Order: sequence, then structure tokens, then C-alpha cells
Amino acid sequence: MHPARVLVASRLNLERPGTLPDMGFYRAYVLPQLLGFSERIASMELVRQRTVEYATGHVLELGVGLGSNLPFYDPEITSLTTVDPNPRFNARVRRRLRHLPFPVDAREGRGEQLPLKDGTFDSVVTTFTLCCVGDLERVLQEILRVLKPGGRLLFAEPGPSRDEEVLKWQRRLARLQGLVVDGCRADRAIDTALIATGFELKRLELAYLDGLPKSLGCVYEGLAVKPL
Ligand SMILES: C[S@@+](CC[C@H](N)C(=O)[O-])C[C@H]1O[C@@H](n2cnc3c(N)ncnc32)[C@H](O)[C@@H]1O
Repeated sequence: MHPARVLVASRLNLERPGTLPDMGFYRAYVLPQLLGFSERIASMELVRQRTVEYATGHVLELGVGLGSNLPFYDPEITSLTTVDPNPRFNARVRRRLRHLPFPVDAREGRGEQLPLKDGTFDSVVTTFTLCCVGDLERVLQEILRVLKPGGRLLFAEPGPSRDEEVLKWQRRLARLQGLVVDGCRADRAIDTALIATGFELKRLELAYLDGLPKSLGCVYEGLAVKPL
């Protein structure tokens, strides 16, 4: 590769899909705008609602972003803990969290090494987050660790379409999508990864988000349980 391309690739971490370099400006200003915009996509809001409304007891939301899921929690949950590595998001989320009717604990951290004790949570929620983590296998192991036996992972995550034509476009757009949406990859099938980690997959539905091209809007929604 030409030396200039090597430099650009290493600065942008293009060799390691699923991770992004320290793009301070992007993460501080561009990504929040993008996530704010996503709250105006009705089909995404429906997915959030469908996923979050099943959370019960002590709940962990991983990759909370701007807190777009917060309005959908049942006021009767026992507590909500949020974990996100982006300090800019955490500051905004804290403002939104103040008005919730249950105890909240907002933490900075990464899914690969959760700053939380084993067997603490009844429910873990992720929406459009597992697609962005660097080490999916490690993150799923950590989720399994912090869930109580019988605890549930509720997820809505982009994934590979089962339609060959759409899949072709997903592959073409993968690198661009990763650069625009915080390292997001739609090429990892969450169902296979969950089963390999030791979860029992109880429900899985694939849907396309209305208002987005199929290649960008293929979402895996479901429920996986930590065995008793
Ligand atoms: C596309 S945003 C989605 C945010 C939110 N879940 C939503 O539905 O709007 C991805 C989120 O994952 C977070 N994230 C990225 N890498 C992560 C990691 N290794 N562990 C936990 N969260 C991570 C980002 O900071 C960001 O908040």
C-alpha cells in the first residue's frame, strides 16, 4: 500500500473494523447529532419501545448513548444502571436521568470490562450498541457474568440480512457505515454469537426499519436468557 494510504488507514483504524480511533471531535459533536436524529425516525423509536418495555427488576443498559431509550422504561423497574465509554454522552444522559422515577447509576466504562459485580442484573438492554463494540465475544461474556441466573438480555442490533442482494450492499457499505456510525458493523450475526457465549436464545426476529434502505435498516430483535 502507498505510505500515505497506510498512514490514513492506521489513523482511522480502517484495518480493525468495529473500532475507531480517538476521534474526539466526531464523538463530541457529530455522533450526538446523529443519535439525536435517530430519535426522529419513527420505526427506530418503535424498536426501542418493543425492546425496552420488557426490562424488569435491576436493569443495565449498555451503550446508553444520549439516553434515547429512557422514555420507554417501565416506571416500576427496581433500578437502572447505564454504562457508556463516551463521557460526552454520559454528561447528557445524567441530565435526562434526573427525572426518572427509579434509582439510576450512570457509569463510564466499556462492555469489554464492565465495572460491575457478578450476578447483579435481572435484565440487560442493548440497542444499536453491540454492533459498535470492538470485541463482541468479550462483551457478551461480560453481560453473561453480570446477569443473574435466569436474567434476560433484550436486544435490537443491526445484523446481516438473509436476502443475498441486501447482504451484498451491506458488505459494500460496511466500512462507510463504520466510519459514520461509531464503528457500527452489520456483518456480525448476534444470534450465533449469543449461543456460542452460552445464552439460551428465546426469541429472535429480523425486521427492516421503515424509512431506511434495507442495507442500513436490517435489525435483529430478541431475547436471550442466562441459563439457571
Ligand atoms: C450507535 S450508538 C447507540 C446508542 C444507543 N444505544 C441508542 O440506541 O441510541 C452506540 C453506542 O455504543 C457505545 N459504545 C461504543 N463502544 C462501546 C463499548 N465497547 N462498550 C460499551 N458501549 C460502547 C457508544 O458510546 C454509543 O453510545
